[in-house]
Amino acid sequence: MLRPRRRGLRLAVPAIVLGAVLAAPGVAAAAPPHEADTSHRTDASLRQLADRHRLPIGTAADDAALTSDAAYREDITTEFSSVTAENVMKWESLEPERGQYDWAAADRLVETAEANGQQVRGHVLIWHSQLPDWLTENEASISTEEFREIVRNHIQTVVGRYKGRIAEWDVVNEAFSDTGGLRDSIFLRKLGPGYIADAFRWAHEADPKATLFYNDYSAEDVNRKSNEAYALIKDFVATGVPIDGFGMQAHHSANYAPTTMRENIQRFAALGLVTAVTEADVRMQLPVDGTKLQAQANVFSVLLSSCLAERSCISFTSWGFTDKYSWVPNTFEGQGAALFLDENLQAKPAYEAMRNDLLLTEPVRGKRGHGRG
Ligand code: XIL
Repeated sequence: MLRPRRRGLRLAVPAIVLGAVLAAPGVAAAAPPHEADTSHRTDASLRQLADRHRLPIGTAADDAALTSDAAYREDITTEFSSVTAENVMKWESLEPERGQYDWAAADRLVETAEANGQQVRGHVLIWHSQLPDWLTENEASISTEEFREIVRNHIQTVVGRYKGRIAEWDVVNEAFSDTGGLRDSIFLRKLGPGYIADAFRWAHEADPKATLFYNDYSAEDVNRKSNEAYALIKDFVATGVPIDGFGMQAHHSANYAPTTMRENIQRFAALGLVTAVTEADVRMQLPVDGTKLQAQANVFSVLLSSCLAERSCISFTSWGFTDKYSWVPNTFEGQGAALFLDENLQAKPAYEAMRNDLLLTEPVRGKRGHGRG
């Protein structure tokens, strides 16, 4: 379908630089440098520009929007080389009744991604939120042994179903609290702190080749939460727990950009781990104004360029791409406009900032893709 052009905006990059960058290998849509008409060069999508870096660039995909909105679907295909299920792989969605799985929406997402040549990030196996009632309501009556078996079985059923088809799994999500220490959750209460290592062991058994992540928010910088995660993961590495990656959700506010993100990425790389930005969005207090949009563009740029510059950062995913379907207004009162396309799927300054980062950053990933350490 035809929509108003949003990529006709001229970038603040000299044509000669653009020509040189886009002529580089890996940019599928790049025109030969001798062509006079350069208008389509500035149309290169995030996906095309990220290909040059060998960096999968992704979005969370909302199942209802995927089904009902053709323009949304088209943008997912054009702009992204990776997708994450925003909700349909969560425990309450996949196993609404004990032992009865509903795979329809998750299967559809994986099949569509495969048809579009996109990788899938699996989200999420163990998380304290969006759990089915049959599990949470029976906490007291389920024995420890039975609970352990339920968790193992869930992880292995889900990972096993998509074995070889899901590149990266968020195995454990948000296990640390905001005030320090492990979060009080049904998993901690029933199984003790060992549940985290066990979850990785079980996931690894079910798909030994999947890249397995610990994922959390407010952990992009070197700070208390990322320090605690680092200490746990360091111990996992020392004791042979099969963990591969540290995921930084990166739900941010436009008035704060991380300052120590590359340092944080580097210390995980030094342990032999990969990293990923898994859920980036940058909310603002409504109403939107030009200053806030510029601040937002800057935060997106810091997040993306920090990942781009570190070869151990193996994927960059935003939590949606259009303000039309973002989770933010439903969750943070008075805030919104957290993504880089507006409600009409038109580019905001953050979109142009991300394109500039992709265009101007020197690629650091070799032919063999990401590297650990
Ligand atoms: C959010 C979804 O975007 C919403 O649609 C849903 O109602 C609640 O969950 N951290 C995570 C994601 O790991 O799974 C959350 O997604 C956002 C915060």
